[in-house]
Amino acid sequence: MDEINVNATVNGRAEHLRVDAAVTLLDALRDRLGLTGTKKGCDQGACGACTVHVDGRRVLSCLTLAVQADGREVRTVEGLGGTHPMQEAFVRHDAFQCGYCTPGQIMSAVALLNEGRGGTDAEIREFMSGNLCRCGAYPNIVAAIREVAGR
Ligand code: FES
Ligand code: FES
Repeated sequence: MDEINVNATVNGRAEHLRVDAAVTLLDALRDRLGLTGTKKGCDQGACGACTVHVDGRRVLSCLTLAVQADGREVRTVEGLGGTHPMQEAFVRHDAFQCGYCTPGQIMSAVALLNEGRGGTDAEIREFMSGNLCRCGAYPNIVAAIREVAGR
């Protein structure tokens, strides 16, 4: 099958890839660029583990084709650098157990605040509802986001 050129900025770095048209952004990030912080949970848009930012908006990378990232800015959890206030708040509030959902939770949480949400706990829960946590760390996740939201 024909491969397509993709030029994207990923975590501030210019990347060039040649990918099959059917390759997802999730697989391109993990398998081609070695950015394995972004997790594959359901691979069908139901869990949020694969959440990344494209041009500052959160997307499910398992439902996004790599070619759709052409000319765009992609940010993954690695791009937060490990010291982002949201990452530190998740640690402080013990907002994870196994940690598998955590990169997606954090990318959604950062986006949620950029979207101007998070004014109430109910709003946090609503706008984080696409990110599932099988370990049930939800109260601690809400607490971490509430703290970064300044409440
Ligand atoms: Fe993308 Fe579950 S892996 S939503
Ligand atoms: Fe285990 Fe969320 S911390 S799935």
